[in-house]
Amino acid sequence: MDLDPTPRSRDIRLRARADRVIPAGMYGHQAASQLGDGYPQFFRGGSGAIIVDVDGREYVDLMCSWGPVILGHRDPAVEAAAAEQRMLGDCLNGPSEQLVLLAEKLVDTIVDADWAMMAKNGTDATTACVTIARQHTGRGLILVARGCYHGAAPWCTPIHNGTLPTDRAGVRYFDYNDVVDFDRAVTEAREDLAGVLLLPFRHVEGEDQELVDGGFARHVREVCDASDALLMLDDVRCGFRLAHGGSWESLGVRVDLSAWSKAIANGYPLAAVTGTDAVREAATKVFLTGSFWMNAVPMAASIATLDRLTAIDGVSIMARAGARLREGLLAQAGAAGLSVRYTGPDALPYMTFVGDSHRQMLHAFATEAVQNGVYLHPRHNWFMSCALDDAAVDQALIGTEPAFAVVAKQFGTTPTV
Ligand SMILES: Cc1ncc(COP(=O)(O)O)c(C=O)c1O
Repeated sequence: MDLDPTPRSRDIRLRARADRVIPAGMYGHQAASQLGDGYPQFFRGGSGAIIVDVDGREYVDLMCSWGPVILGHRDPAVEAAAAEQRMLGDCLNGPSEQLVLLAEKLVDTIVDADWAMMAKNGTDATTACVTIARQHTGRGLILVARGCYHGAAPWCTPIHNGTLPTDRAGVRYFDYNDVVDFDRAVTEAREDLAGVLLLPFRHVEGEDQELVDGGFARHVREVCDASDALLMLDDVRCGFRLAHGGSWESLGVRVDLSAWSKAIANGYPLAAVTGTDAVREAATKVFLTGSFWMNAVPMAASIATLDRLTAIDGVSIMARAGARLREGLLAQAGAAGLSVRYTGPDALPYMTFVGDSHRQMLHAFATEAVQNGVYLHPRHNWFMSCALDDAAVDQALIGTEPAFAVVAKQFGTTPTV
């Protein structure tokens, strides 16, 4: 590998060039400027559980590209399927047969899917769900839980710069898992309630994660049925990591529409909307399209991804990796005299330090971890992949142990709760 003699010199040079030609040098959720000093901005590649930055430094990847990489980087089966389709063509005058094959696979795999439509990004999928719900019901209002992320379009972006209050005029808010507050929002929406868009569990940046209360989910379903409104699940982030057939598969709460993206094609750009027969007609009436939505390569990659996840029982593999990571981190935190909260499902965990309201301890932890070859995020939940075998998790734990020591030294120990 042709390593630059100065650590991080390529990254530094690229950032300087980017500053001249890209607003803020980099934008969006992957801007390294919001992370600690040791974080690289630019990457060279990745293989399995390992990513390599532009200066050749390697990291065990606990972010998985913020979710898309689920089997591991450059999974051979996915790459072979993508390469085979690429030889035939990708962007054509219509979809390839991959569209039908993939729709069939999604309908076979996802419990609440009678049909599927493809798009590119998660925001396309959540926006399509909302549009179909309004068409189906002939009503305007969508209820979403406060603070929950559903994408970067003006109707849902958490940062309102450049948008109008009217962009969000059709959205009302309630607190996740709070039946009383949900009922209040439903009452206020009155006859104009088109649907409720929910995350499978509450994952909000910088906050401890909160699993869905089964009673709350059942209540939302009952209220939607009683009001002829639609229940939509935003499975963009969790999809295929918690269950093969939809994140609420085991909860037994059925949904009318689901939004998918991220892990659906192991890193290839693809999103999907799935729905039940009851809303099929509305889906035929709305105009959903995009120049690259029908590209065949990501669909071939998706079919291979879903096949492989089923064949190896990816959900169990990621749960196992996540459990090993959790046990290791909790033991290390305890040994360092630090009290932590470890929340969310093992496949999408997040850890915070008790008493660290400004997340300074967490930033110090993450900065040290990344120096030690473990890529995780201080404010965003982490993602397991099927490439995280025991050896990779243990390698990550070797990097996190000194990070706890740094936190204890810098901030002092915290009482164990
Ligand atoms: C739950 C959820 N919904 C929607 C989105 C938007 O997806 P995208 O960034 O692909 O538009 C995200 C992205 O992080 C997400 O986590």
